[in-house]
Amino acid sequence: MIFALVNQKGGVGKTTSTVNLGGGLHRMGHKVLIMEVDPQSHVAKWFGFRNPQHGTIYDVMDAQLKAGNTGGEAMPLANVLVETSEGLWLAPGSRDLAGLEGDLRNDSINGQFILSEVLAPYASEFDIILIDCGPTLNLLTINALVAADFVAIPVKMSELDMDGVGEVLKTVSKVKAKLNPALEVAGIFPTFTDNTRYGDEVEKAAAEQSAIKEHMMQSFIPDRVVYREAVGVKVSIFGMGRNKAVREAADYYLDLAAELLWRTGRFSKAEIARMVKAARINAPTSNDAAEVAYARS
Ligand SMILES: Nc1ncnc2c1ncn2[C@@H]1O[C@H](COP(=O)(O)OP(=O)(O)O)[C@@H](O)[C@H]1O
Ligand SMILES: [Mg+2]
Repeated sequence: MIFALVNQKGGVGKTTSTVNLGGGLHRMGHKVLIMEVDPQSHVAKWFGFRNPQHGTIYDVMDAQLKAGNTGGEAMPLANVLVETSEGLWLAPGSRDLAGLEGDLRNDSINGQFILSEVLAPYASEFDIILIDCGPTLNLLTINALVAADFVAIPVKMSELDMDGVGEVLKTVSKVKAKLNPALEVAGIFPTFTDNTRYGDEVEKAAAEQSAIKEHMMQSFIPDRVVYREAVGVKVSIFGMGRNKAVREAADYYLDLAAELLWRTGRFSKAEIARMVKAARINAPTSNDAAEVAYARS
């Protein structure tokens, strides 16, 4: 199952949600691959793969594009995969993706299908593949939509950007009509909310646009400092110890993961409940060394 996290605005929580959903889904028992098609390569930076020795998703996509045109060698995605300490698989991005976007645009025959071709042999190798997209609906994002089964759209609630979400939905419809009939919207979820779900204003703004309302999720991600702290630690929120703030922050992503899985229609409520139970971070015991270390740092 492939999910693309898309919103053409930056700073709405795409990368944070990709990584933390990955962490949660991994704890739920799924084999997860996180990849990014964003030249900012924030996922690579998050996990400290700033200059990956074995190449990046750029090299794989570039080779695939060239192979399609010259019959040269494609590069297997496996060459660039790295496993994190938490057990997440990553296909890191690189700044070179910006240049590749131009090459994709210049290739009117193959340009939209490169990522889908790259991922095809891996669809059964991983239970879940999460694609973190950049803050634009360019050809890299289109490639992600063509490769994906589902789209998840984070919306920063403080900015009430329902027009932006409308744009994303329009693009998804076009991709579904012309390029990837299997594509579905898994859901739109609010990010950076206060503690009380999302406000009346937002509900009203969303309700005015029925296309948005239809996909609006129950789950949401509140504005919490602890989400920002995970970036330096090279783990998702699920690898950050067991103090109360971490457990609560992780629970929001577990709820979101559970609702996304439910919305795929591929799991029963009972199956999902079992996964969530297994994944929950337990409260620390008094002699929990890891917890003490985290509290001191
Ligand atoms: N729920 C949240 N609460 C607080 N800070 C957050 C939250 N989600 C993301 N952030 C922070 O906001 C910034 C933008 O988030 P990011 O996930 O990189 O957005 P995007 O990928 O959409 O550009 C980052 O510094 C990130 O750590
Ligand atoms: Mg990002």
